[in-house]
Amino acid sequence: MKALITGASGFIGSHLAEELSKRGYEVACLVRETSDLKWLSGFDIKLINGDCSDKDSLNNCVKGYDYVFHLAGLTKTNCKEDFYSVNTKGTENLIEAVVKNNSEVKRFVYLSSLSAFGPKVNANLPNEKDNPLPVSDYGKSKLRAEKAVLGYSDRIPISILRPSAVYGPRDKELFLFFKLIKRGIMPYWGDGQTSLVYVDDLINAIILSAEKESAAGRTYFISDGMVYSNNEIINEIASALNVKVFMIKLPKPILVPIGFLSDGISKIMGKSTMVNSDKIKELMHTDWICDITKAKDDLCFRPNVGIKKGIKWTADWYKIHRWL
Ligand SMILES: NC(=O)c1ccc[n+]([C@@H]2O[C@H](COP(=O)([O-])OP(=O)(O)OC[C@H]3O[C@@H](n4cnc5c(N)ncnc54)[C@H](OP(=O)(O)O)[C@@H]3O)[C@@H](O)[C@H]2O)c1
Repeated sequence: MKALITGASGFIGSHLAEELSKRGYEVACLVRETSDLKWLSGFDIKLINGDCSDKDSLNNCVKGYDYVFHLAGLTKTNCKEDFYSVNTKGTENLIEAVVKNNSEVKRFVYLSSLSAFGPKVNANLPNEKDNPLPVSDYGKSKLRAEKAVLGYSDRIPISILRPSAVYGPRDKELFLFFKLIKRGIMPYWGDGQTSLVYVDDLINAIILSAEKESAAGRTYFISDGMVYSNNEIINEIASALNVKVFMIKLPKPILVPIGFLSDGISKIMGKSTMVNSDKIKELMHTDWICDITKAKDDLCFRPNVGIKKGIKWTADWYKIHRWL
């Protein structure tokens, strides 16, 4: 089976490329000239140059694959228009190229995000029947991309996954919390609940969504099936790092100026950071959780890694690789 992956130089994409290659797929990765390829070295993987924001670069890249896994995306930027040009327009460009040049594709899998749905709005655990209400530009750009993908579901078989926050080796986002907690300090802005998924479990879900006939045309939330309090997560990280953590309570309204200040600094430095005004829009909401019953029923998705094991393994990886 031949698979094309976009976003393979990134955290999740590199794990997917590795796993598909181990399972005997012929793997090709769409990468940019500027992509850092360190996580892809040592695997039997073909590299193809292309950029999802450049429509013309895609036509020749997508031919002849059984599966296309679209993971390329922007998770942080200091210019909100970039979310729409990469996440929405980039997805439209890719799926148009696939429909035009590879209409026999067995599945086009789009990795969306819980952010495309938004935070919990009522007493129930959100499920796929609920209406999405994203609160950040990142989330809105991912939801628009979902709609673009669904718009082609009568032409090619598609599946959409909305993972909660993903963590594991190579992740640079939750890593920020590991770094702060290692220093013994964790800013805290109130109670909240979060769904998480360890990267290996997400990779299984992605492959299941491509291989299962019944997943065609469907959208799934993906997490490890648990709901964690923010305190639980912080304590688990502290315990994995063997440190005592001091929580500094920040009043929520202070988050907004922090976000703008951080935007300004990152513009001057020319580098996007995880703390930005778009992320703050998400942090103002407490509960980022989802129900994965549909993925369990349709895909036979069985997450194996809860935070006890997953955070320990991730912390060990950061230590071994001298990130911490
Ligand atoms: N991490 C999470 O917690 C999480 C949760 C839910 C959903 N997701 C989604 O999962 C996907 C992967 O996230 P990640 O955490 O692995 O992000 P990441 O490590 O930042 O990787 C992003 C990938 O997208 C590629 N990319 C960006 N713009 C591109 C373009 N114009 N053309 C081609 N490739 C481009 C990057 O390539 P370069 O190396 O060239 O920059 C990189 O390979 C994203 O779509 C994200 O929205 C992530």
